[in-house]
Amino acid sequence: MVASLAEAAVDVLTTADPRDKTARSRAHAVRWRESVAAGDPMPVGTAAPPDHPARPDAPALLDPRDVPRRRPGSRQGRIALLHAIAHIELNAVDLHWDIIARFTGTPMPRGFYDDWVKAADEESKHFNLLADRLEAHDSHYGALPAHAGMWRAAEDTADDLEGRLAVVPMVLEARGLDVTPGMIDLFRAADDAETVAALEVIYAEEVGHVAYGSKWFHFLCGRHEHDPKDRFHALVQTYFHGALKPPFNEEKRAEAGLPPDFYWPLADR
Ligand SMILES: [Fe+2]
Ligand SMILES: [Fe+2]
Repeated sequence: MVASLAEAAVDVLTTADPRDKTARSRAHAVRWRESVAAGDPMPVGTAAPPDHPARPDAPALLDPRDVPRRRPGSRQGRIALLHAIAHIELNAVDLHWDIIARFTGTPMPRGFYDDWVKAADEESKHFNLLADRLEAHDSHYGALPAHAGMWRAAEDTADDLEGRLAVVPMVLEARGLDVTPGMIDLFRAADDAETVAALEVIYAEEVGHVAYGSKWFHFLCGRHEHDPKDRFHALVQTYFHGALKPPFNEEKRAEAGLPPDFYWPLADR
């Protein structure tokens, strides 16, 4: 049994097996929610998160340039795409628990923890949905190589909570909103209704994760009397390597509290 939310986070981060990681993540989320509902929230506490989350032996993690490309129209291409998204979801589980454990030195309202616990729980469900779809296609998570370097954003912003919020939910997860509709179309064209249903769950819930990022970013800007747009531009230029790629999903970004003047000035035109 873990005594605090930060210890729960470290328990997830130090678990290597993906199904075990997501099971622990979901169980800790239930305990947090139940403690809040009972009017006696688990303490946030403190615990030292690892520099890198524990990972299984497979998949092999390769430099993105060395990950083989497959034609998206083929069955093998769709399996590779599912594998790549599953890898992103597993990383997202760890990213949300990491933000919980790493920044306990910054006093935040309880709602901050409610939001990231919910996001981590949803990412755990997303990973499981995709791992199930891979298995339905006679593959599994770990069967193909995956991108190394997904933890780069976490390392770069390990000392900067505003930077973490700017880069992870407000840039990387917002990018997910841009590209997911195209993936849904691809699986719909292949008559894979179950994968379409899984991706639609993911698409709907990811709007919330971007919104949590925007909410707490604005909260911290207000605390420090920073102009949010100027601060966002400065932090993304410091911590994010490269320009943002249009086309943007302006509607879903707006729903998540991300206005066009935040991202268009950083776009690769
Ligand atoms: Fe997700
Ligand atoms: Fe997410």
